[in-house]
Amino acid sequence: MWTELKTLRGQVKERRIMALFEGDGIRAERFCAETDGLRLDYSKTQIDDEIRAALLALCDQRGLADRREAMFSGARINETENRAVLHTALRNLDGGAVTVDGADVVPQVRDWLARMAVFADAVRDGSLTGAGGRITDVVSIGIGGSDLGPAMATLALAPYHDGPRLHYVSNVDGAHISDTLRGLDPKTTLVNVGSKSFTTVETMTNAHTARDWMVRGGGDPARQFSAISSEPERAGAFGIPPEHVFGFADWVGGRYSVWGPVGLPLMIAVGPEDFRAFLRGGQAMDRHFCTADWVGNLPVLLALTGLWHSQVCDHPSRAVLPYDQRLARLPAYLQQLEMESNGKSVAMDGTPLAGRSGAIVWGEPGTNGQHAFFQLLHQGTDAVPCEFLVAAQGHEPELAHHHRLLVANCLAQSKALMLGRSLEEARALLAGSGLSGVELDRQARHRVFAGNRPSVTLSYALLTPFVLGQIIALYEHRVFVEGAILGINSFDQFGVELGKEMATSLGPVLDGSMACDGLDGSTAALVGFVRRNGG
Ligand code: F6P
Repeated sequence: MWTELKTLRGQVKERRIMALFEGDGIRAERFCAETDGLRLDYSKTQIDDEIRAALLALCDQRGLADRREAMFSGARINETENRAVLHTALRNLDGGAVTVDGADVVPQVRDWLARMAVFADAVRDGSLTGAGGRITDVVSIGIGGSDLGPAMATLALAPYHDGPRLHYVSNVDGAHISDTLRGLDPKTTLVNVGSKSFTTVETMTNAHTARDWMVRGGGDPARQFSAISSEPERAGAFGIPPEHVFGFADWVGGRYSVWGPVGLPLMIAVGPEDFRAFLRGGQAMDRHFCTADWVGNLPVLLALTGLWHSQVCDHPSRAVLPYDQRLARLPAYLQQLEMESNGKSVAMDGTPLAGRSGAIVWGEPGTNGQHAFFQLLHQGTDAVPCEFLVAAQGHEPELAHHHRLLVANCLAQSKALMLGRSLEEARALLAGSGLSGVELDRQARHRVFAGNRPSVTLSYALLTPFVLGQIIALYEHRVFVEGAILGINSFDQFGVELGKEMATSLGPVLDGSMACDGLDGSTAALVGFVRRNGG
């Protein structure tokens, strides 16, 4: 499937991306797509008309439209777990019925949302109180999909916060919960335990620790605990009253769950109305994904650009660089979304993948990254395709000069990655420095930028709840399209299990109740080191 594209890649490998602009005055418009104010510019890549046509052809070759229809209509496309994949139903605010096994799930979704809103309002308006009165702080305990989505979105929407303070605890490292609880009042803190399975060891360990802390401090867990799970009876067994337990169905994957009950902490922070605006943004992206032609379809274009870079150009990783401090957790969120979904070596039918799995995703907000790893992006031996995100405006009009600098840096970076700096230009730069001959040449070589490094830029007016919803749904569908074209099941995650099983069996070895027999030499030596050092 990649042969034609690899041939095209061979033909253009040495071509300067800048030459594409010189030969086409409207390239910036032609290699760009926009929906509801969200703009995707992929013109700073090697993709030209012929390459784009070949990439777009993959959609039909791989039956993307049928697969999309199967997902949205509730078919069990997560075949290895025999589940439907219907996170889109969670944001189906005013769409039609969505059926799973013949039953419309939309009324159930509406009911979840209504219950969440009642609870969130009660926490926000003070009608739900703790032992010490009004709730001042919410500690949300969860990990992976039960943490990254709400934590990322809560930070992203900080300008919309008008509820109690939100804190997130995920790591089983006692430092995390200890540092979070320090300074909080156990009588006015609400603890929300989010776990789809309600068995995840990190979450349950933190939940028990939080409950002990609350009891010791005079709080009332019967009033001050809530839970989100697709196994609500387990939350009941933990002692959380049914009116504080928010269930959801197994057709919502953990890393796709922020739109439903798992998003409750976000709703408490920003209120039901802004939460609905977030859902509407996601729904708008769903409509766009389902109706726009492939060539104007943002998730499709983002996915095809990603596949071009990873599968065809052989760039194994991709940097996500939000020039938006409040999207600081977006790279971590996308690491789970993309790498847990498409980090697979076998296709749906169990045969080995022909190419590589989905890309390695990493990143940090700009401008911070510029003063850290951008050195490698500009002058390292390996090209890393970059994805920039930037808002035209900030939420701080009184600090417009900050925002101008932020945007200038974002645009400058993608420009510099593309243009680079030649040896001649570097020599000219040093012309007045007093250097000459061999030394000038040596110094100049250190100041050369190869350039021709591809990037895409996502831009929007302002990071509102609606825009955040658009962005997250865009990335979800991008993962879906990449998975569909690669033939991967993007919705299971067996790769996380082996380590979990081994951690369970190593616990007794570490506490000395079981011998090291049968352990590999390295692990046995590490156990020995920990024990000798007070572990
Ligand atoms: O370890 C992987 C994982 O299963 C993720 O897929 C999931 O989001 C996370 O653990 C948390 O699971 P749960 O919500 O069941 O606690």
